[in-house]
Amino acid sequence: MEHSIYEFPDIFRRVHMEEPREIAQEVRFLRRIWREHLNRPVSRVLDLACGNSPHGQLLARAGLEVVGIDRSKTMIAAGCRESAGLEGIRFYRRPIERFRLPERRFDAAFFMSETFPVMTENHDIVSHLRSVGRLLKRGAIYCIDVDRQDGIRATRAHKLWDRSLRVGDARVEVRGVHRPMPWYSGVYSNFEISCSIRFPGRRVNTRDVVPIRYTLPCTLELLARASRMFVMIATYTDLSFTKPLSRCHRRWWGVLRRV
Ligand SMILES: C[S@@+](CC[C@H](N)C(=O)[O-])C[C@H]1O[C@@H](n2cnc3c(N)ncnc32)[C@H](O)[C@@H]1O
Repeated sequence: MEHSIYEFPDIFRRVHMEEPREIAQEVRFLRRIWREHLNRPVSRVLDLACGNSPHGQLLARAGLEVVGIDRSKTMIAAGCRESAGLEGIRFYRRPIERFRLPERRFDAAFFMSETFPVMTENHDIVSHLRSVGRLLKRGAIYCIDVDRQDGIRATRAHKLWDRSLRVGDARVEVRGVHRPMPWYSGVYSNFEISCSIRFPGRRVNTRDVVPIRYTLPCTLELLARASRMFVMIATYTDLSFTKPLSRCHRRWWGVLRRV
């Protein structure tokens, strides 16, 4: 049976070369943005494509009420396990493209880990924004983390990674390939990632194909307007309040306000 790397929260983070400390840095930055752009306290927040909601867990430990949505049963199970005994965090299994929740409105929402561009179709992004917008109070802030994408280049296959790493007891062989897409598709990379994970006593193979839409600040601004629920009020670069987009090294955040 073929698995997804997103069933293994600790391993996917290492495969994507993310450092665990980045989560706390991102949460601190989120809180700075709320202080800067919201003139009221934030007590209820929504985490989109939350996985095991590492950000949500930190916020819930700080006393906020957090609701996360994700389509992965395993990721949600990991989140429930890790937050057992912690009040104020709940998970729903939902697709991000279109969803409803039996919840009161939230003060803020966030979409981390550079996952927003997996929505590649305009209608999916607009219905996503409308789904989020319906759950936010007027004036609420929605922060979206997007990786910096250079010119569209993946019109032919090229190898991205071929490496092995150790995560706890597991030995992981990773192979990453950009699959070609036509230039007009709007897809920046069609990223295929295959892992062979050797746990003590068993081996698991994972394969994920992750299309990434070419997403620029101007695209997000337009889509926010198209949803009629948001306007983009700011962009920030590499978790800095002062670094301009022109010097963006790795990723940028779009800050949307619910109108
Ligand atoms: C890279 S992980 C990030 C998880 C979490 N936000 C974090 O920072 O650790 C991406 C998550 O997006 C979820 N995801 C991807 N596409 C989705 C979709 N269409 N609907 C719901 N969840 C989705 C995956 O299940 C996975 O948990």
